[in-house]
Amino acid sequence: MKHTARFALASSLLSATVQATTYTLVDNYNSTNFFSSFAFFDAADPTHGFVDYADAQTASQNGLAGYINNMVYLGADYTTANPPSGRASTRVTSTKSYDKGLFVADIQHMPVGCGVWPAFWTLGSNWPAGGEIDIIEGVNSQSTDAITLHTSPGCVMSNSGSAAGTQYSGGATGLDCGANSGYAGCSLSTTTANAYGPGFNANGGGVYVMEMASEAISVWFFPRGSAQAASLATAAIPDTSTFGTPMGMFTGCDIDRYFSAQQIIFDTTFCGDWAGAVWGQDATCAPLASSCSAYVQQNPAAFVDAYWLINSVKVYQASSGSSSNKRRSPYRAAEPKHKGVVPVPFLS
Ligand SMILES: *[C@@H]1O[C@H](CO)[C@@H](O)[C@H](O)[C@H]1NC(C)=O
Repeated sequence: MKHTARFALASSLLSATVQATTYTLVDNYNSTNFFSSFAFFDAADPTHGFVDYADAQTASQNGLAGYINNMVYLGADYTTANPPSGRASTRVTSTKSYDKGLFVADIQHMPVGCGVWPAFWTLGSNWPAGGEIDIIEGVNSQSTDAITLHTSPGCVMSNSGSAAGTQYSGGATGLDCGANSGYAGCSLSTTTANAYGPGFNANGGGVYVMEMASEAISVWFFPRGSAQAASLATAAIPDTSTFGTPMGMFTGCDIDRYFSAQQIIFDTTFCGDWAGAVWGQDATCAPLASSCSAYVQQNPAAFVDAYWLINSVKVYQASSGSSSNKRRSPYRAAEPKHKGVVPVPFLS
């Protein structure tokens, strides 16, 4: 009997923690403000790609970044033959950072092709200390999305709660996402159709949602044409309780401790530490050239589809008084607030 009582208490606490958060829109990035809210990264690629990231002026002048039909275009050079030290491309970082939130990215097209390594991700400061969340990522002829976390050592995550079919690099027992100082990370190989690559583009893309909460980091994908994608394009406030099982979900470690101040990044690199390293194992790409870099260098026209086309990225955070972006205070949980009392802004 005692067992039953304890179990009931545990499960009621559990259901309290997974209750959907009430969100408020805090930022809406679209063609009206994207390029004033994201900065171009033009330093050497930290992942050692055969890439030459353009600064804002170069990107704009050379047609690597701009607008198409009111969508944000972020692309790569697809005309220059034999660039000596890397193909020109783009990487942008949001100037704002977020400790928690619901990130809703409505994307029409993503970069695809052999040699291409695109990513939509978030990054904290002082890698891997601030954590990294890779939401859309893959290389070469990959056709499904990989979702990966990188942290400092000690963040052990499981993938329970993820969609059936999603494979975890950590297996059933979980994995320290910071083993080897964050280099390998912990990764989910998803199987959802049309969530990545040519299938994604043929279907007009869709809406990716990443929720970064104290209890879990979750990623959903809603393809163009689905009711959820349409609703997210228009709904003032998304309701995560209607989203269903996430494509990928990580739980287990102290998210507040291992993830903070995430900046949003879109990039397209070539070859390097991942796409280059596995080139020889890719049955579609390997026959095209002796190395990834040689292929990228010699085949400009192959990169005409190496671009992001973004409708919007909306960032929502928990409404004042709801708990998911702050640690729960024992005082707050004990008694509801008095009606009519306006909270002092710096305390709420
Ligand atoms: C685009 O973003 C701006 C700035 O956040 C916002 O005022 C506007 O409503 C957005 N446009 C659409 C169509 O959502």
